[in-house]
Amino acid sequence: APDAMPPQVGDFLVSPAGSTPLTPDSIKLDSKPFEAVAMSPDGVVRNAEYENTVLLLRYDPATLPAETAAKSAEGVLGYTIICTHAGCPLSDTLKSKLLACDCHGSRFDPTKNGEVAHGPAVRKLPQLGLGIKDGQLVVAEAFDSRVGGDMMGEDDR
Ligand code: FES
Repeated sequence: APDAMPPQVGDFLVSPAGSTPLTPDSIKLDSKPFEAVAMSPDGVVRNAEYENTVLLLRYDPATLPAETAAKSAEGVLGYTIICTHAGCPLSDTLKSKLLACDCHGSRFDPTKNGEVAHGPAVRKLPQLGLGIKDGQLVVAEAFDSRVGGDMMGEDDR
């Protein structure tokens, strides 16, 4: 179903409770991750699957490495909320400026394309490419790697 699809190129981003497309200024510089979901151009909010949730952050683009900046829109970056270790959702607060998973302590650097700063995760956090259309944030590229945990299910045995 369209509401269960991952973010698609051309989708807007909205807060999980809202339907008004977010703009770059919806996301404050250097603040905690902002939870968002994609919304199709015809208004389908893709919130049926929690794993399609996106965390938005914003930095001064001049401070970002080229690869990360290229996927940003006016400094706004998007990442999956799902930890690559075993699929827990990441915390809604940064720990020492890193995206943090409270399940087993993994950390990811949002300013470096989601690279692993701390295990046990071994795979970088998938980054969503963002753009701007008519002043609003849109999805410009799909996640750059697979969303989901590598140890899904095994960890609880
Ligand atoms: Fe995130 Fe294990 S699921 S650290």
